[in-house]
Amino acid sequence: MSSANADYRQACLSAGQLQGEPPLGWELTGKLLAISHEYCQAEGGCHGPDHTERVHNLALHIGRLMNARLDILSAAALLHDIGRSQEMLSQGKICHAAKGAEMSRTILTGLGFSPEMQEEILHCIEAHRYRNNKVPETLEAKILFDADKLDSIGAIGIGRAFLFAGQVGARLHNRGVDVLKTSSYSVEDTAYREFLVKLCKIKDKMLTPEGKRLAAERHEFMELFFKRLDKEIHGTPQDSAGNGQ
Ligand SMILES: [Fe+2]
Ligand SMILES: [Fe+2]
Repeated sequence: MSSANADYRQACLSAGQLQGEPPLGWELTGKLLAISHEYCQAEGGCHGPDHTERVHNLALHIGRLMNARLDILSAAALLHDIGRSQEMLSQGKICHAAKGAEMSRTILTGLGFSPEMQEEILHCIEAHRYRNNKVPETLEAKILFDADKLDSIGAIGIGRAFLFAGQVGARLHNRGVDVLKTSSYSVEDTAYREFLVKLCKIKDKMLTPEGKRLAAERHEFMELFFKRLDKEIHGTPQDSAGNGQ
């Protein structure tokens, strides 16, 4: 390994949680990671760089099982949310997936990606929200969609939901309201609301077998967690099996 590659390797490993040998090599991965961090750092919270790194790892895990193109998946995962701050600034008028694809075209050209690879990567980024008629059509796009959604459920999903609730000033939990009649970005925009409105439906949207398997497992954990939260919220004592007394 050249000293430049060793530097990139160190940067990749110390910057985040990337695992294993990167499919695009250390140098290119280091460059993409640095670009991705630059855009996602400003976002912070639920969509900071660590989200990108987890999605990257999950996408490669599913990609290996399905013999997908890992080079395409790696670049797409690292760049998939770089348009998010534009969406926030425009208060939702700009779609971060479409914007991210547009921004990525310039980045990928600058890094020497072939036109064929660019189209594959841009499709994954553009379709990762599965909205506005942008449906994931390729195997890699389906895998990125699953990896991104998986990061919003399970223990990570719960953590991210509370982080978001804190960012909008919502309360911890409220059993006394019908959360489906409350609005987003309000004091009632709790993690439990996020679970009922959005997160509990994710397991049925997965597009790959491994995505479905992981989502079912993560969903089960979320259900258990919110049942327990419901019991503890009124200060009810719990026995060691988690049953309220
Ligand atoms: Fe996204
Ligand atoms: Fe994402």
